[in-house]
Amino acid sequence: MEIKIAFIGCGGIANAHMVALSQLSDVKFVGMCDIDENRAKTASDKYGGKVYTDWKKMLSEIEIDACYICLPPFAHEGQEELCIEKNIPFLIEKPIHLNKNKAKKIVEKIKEKNLITAVGYQDRYQDIIAYIKPFFSEGNLGFFTGWWVNGMPGVYWWRKKELSGGQAVEQTTHIFDMSRYLIGEPIEVFSVKRIGLMKEIEGYNIEDASAVSVYFENGVFGVIFSGCFLNTNGKVGLDFYFKDKVIEYTERQKVKIDYGSKIEEIYETGNLILKEDTAFIEAVKTKNQSLIKSSYEDAYKTLIFTLCANEAMEKNKIVKIKY
Ligand SMILES: NC(=O)c1ccc[n+]([C@@H]2O[C@H](COP(=O)([O-])OP(=O)(O)OC[C@H]3O[C@@H](n4cnc5c(N)ncnc54)[C@H](O)[C@@H]3O)[C@@H](O)[C@H]2O)c1
Repeated sequence: MEIKIAFIGCGGIANAHMVALSQLSDVKFVGMCDIDENRAKTASDKYGGKVYTDWKKMLSEIEIDACYICLPPFAHEGQEELCIEKNIPFLIEKPIHLNKNKAKKIVEKIKEKNLITAVGYQDRYQDIIAYIKPFFSEGNLGFFTGWWVNGMPGVYWWRKKELSGGQAVEQTTHIFDMSRYLIGEPIEVFSVKRIGLMKEIEGYNIEDASAVSVYFENGVFGVIFSGCFLNTNGKVGLDFYFKDKVIEYTERQKVKIDYGSKIEEIYETGNLILKEDTAFIEAVKTKNQSLIKSSYEDAYKTLIFTLCANEAMEKNKIVKIKY
């Protein structure tokens, strides 16, 4: 069974998905849409598909079995809603939106239609995460720290809070999401931030650094650090302090488990985007949402978690997380 794929947004991450999807024998690229026509054309020349600059036109003109929505955070302006209206399953990149009310309405519409959805939290597909996940049901995790601390990404929209949502919402979201995936649901957050470390970069208005403290409903607490001011090697991952072991997870690379009497190190080897895309295509073919590790409905909760962290940062107060 051939799955006809269209892309809305043909930038950086879209191209990573195109590379992965082109390795699957049952996928055909039918539409490439970007407001930058050159990007859509370059993708079409390489992988196939009709070139569009208007996503409404593309979704109305051609037959599509599944859509990839790979837009910057500020550019969600009805693409998901039209896919739902037309019963087109979609994989959407994180963060799923910047507007929580609109995202909530999208969740409701997806439920009404029972539509297959996936969100680009590919870290959930790691073998090293599957290996450590059972430890989290033993009930002896005390607390954790999370980190996304490195330099500033090159895309222009990233450094504008109104366009990207800031680092916690846009980037450290992978760490917030992983904490939910492994630990459970957060109930409240408090955050602090600092600005002014990057005097050499013009026109940015996001925080340079933040620390978000979070309490989960099962009593676990932690602090998640974000920083985009480093000119040197950074740290991306999570450290978990259990009663009988300490786990250091380095994102997309390895876990180190220190039991006191021995140390175990396991390395990630798989292509995560390929795993994520394979699961999505299989789910579309078999109409089986359970193959997907991050649905829109689940990712909505990670969005709320990070938006609450932003609110705490702005208002300097504890924010209760309500979905
Ligand atoms: N899962 C991951 O690890 C991962 C990695 C990188 C980026 N992302 C996410 O993917 C999203 C896109 O990031 P990127 O790095 O590809 O950005 P990018 O700027 O490289 O690409 C975005 C593309 O969308 C196009 N675009 C903007 N508005 C549009 C519209 N209305 N219709 C059609 N095209 C439009 C732009 O012209 C651009 O080509 C972001 O939300 C980002 O957080 C996820």
